[in-house]
Amino acid sequence: MNIDKFKGIRTPFYYYDTDILRQTLNTINEESQKYQGYHVHYAVKANANIKVLNIIKEAGLGIDCVSGGEIEQVLRAGFPADKIVFAGVGKSDWEIELGIDKDIFCFNVESIPELEVINEIAIQKGKTANVCFRINPNVGAHTHSNITTGLAENKFGIAMEDMEKVIRLAQSMSNVCFKGIHFHIGSQILEMDDFIALAERINELQDRLEKANIKLEIINVGGGLGIDYANPQANPIPNFKDYFALYNKHLKLREGQTVHFELGRAVVGQCGSLITKVNYVKKGAVKQFVIVDAGMTDLIRPALYDAHHKIVNLTSDAPEETYDVVGPICESSDVFDKDIKLNGTKRGDLIAMLSAGAYGEIMASGYNCRVLPVGYTSDELK
Ligand code: LLP
Repeated sequence: MNIDKFKGIRTPFYYYDTDILRQTLNTINEESQKYQGYHVHYAVKANANIKVLNIIKEAGLGIDCVSGGEIEQVLRAGFPADKIVFAGVGKSDWEIELGIDKDIFCFNVESIPELEVINEIAIQKGKTANVCFRINPNVGAHTHSNITTGLAENKFGIAMEDMEKVIRLAQSMSNVCFKGIHFHIGSQILEMDDFIALAERINELQDRLEKANIKLEIINVGGGLGIDYANPQANPIPNFKDYFALYNKHLKLREGQTVHFELGRAVVGQCGSLITKVNYVKKGAVKQFVIVDAGMTDLIRPALYDAHHKIVNLTSDAPEETYDVVGPICESSDVFDKDIKLNGTKRGDLIAMLSAGAYGEIMASGYNCRVLPVGYTSDELK
């Protein structure tokens, strides 16, 4: 990383490498367009920085939103409303109104009460809302328990046994139009077998629905494809080839059906780094601490999910030593990593935490009245 361009920028900040982002987007388009009817929606919850969104928009992806605020943000960025899917277990009335006013592509509905509210609001507005049902497929994912969502015990979706009943209800309503089914089994999934299990479960459900004479236009398989946090420099682009190929191989489609994907982390994860400055190096009795000016307020993933982001010293080539890298916040969970090797580190060095493009900047908070980190792209810092 050439760091001259970072001179004078207040740390900590996020830095987005647009070459990596564009290569990632090209690969997504190349691999998904091999198959007919595949549509990729970017899950904007991963990163809603307007500069990042603009690049994703240029690549032509659709959008997956989970709040009215996200819908507003992607419309500001110029995404077409008819490429927006809107998920979420607890949509507020104003968010549903916004979706209907803007004629979004589809609501991913998670309960009967929500379906009723969507229908009522659509009646008031004299419009029809497209709906898919999020079905809980009871498929586990090999990932952190905080980010697995497709098990029967999770709060998400409609139980498989209620599926026909709920679809019939939707079909009987005047102002919703039933389109299909939606799934999402979790995030940071690297075992492709988990997605195969989902595809096979969808096949079973589709056979069952066919017997009940229910036809689907849309199958939305959600997102969840993981990235290589351990070796981001060696693997900057996730394995989209195998990912789309496995759906093509295992998911049995009927004539005219479209398959929708909601990828977040895999799109933006590897293009972003959190850049932070070393405030102090403290030698304790048994440990050496690198105390940086970024905290868990800037990147919460290590504290919340035990995540490990690769950490590198951008300004030192001194022999490696072992350190704990910690932030300035008065919480014992404000630790980025423990017992890691870094080139010999001193006050003033610049440190990068890699693979921080997804769920980094967007999850930052103002706890301790800290200033929110700014996100810059390589296009603007030349
Ligand atoms: N679709 C739905 C319905 C979702 O709930 C999610 C993520 C996605 C798509 C996108 O998933 P992805 O492709 O990014 O895995 N903050 C956590 C991740 C939470 C994911 C929540 N849902 C983290 O930092 O690991």
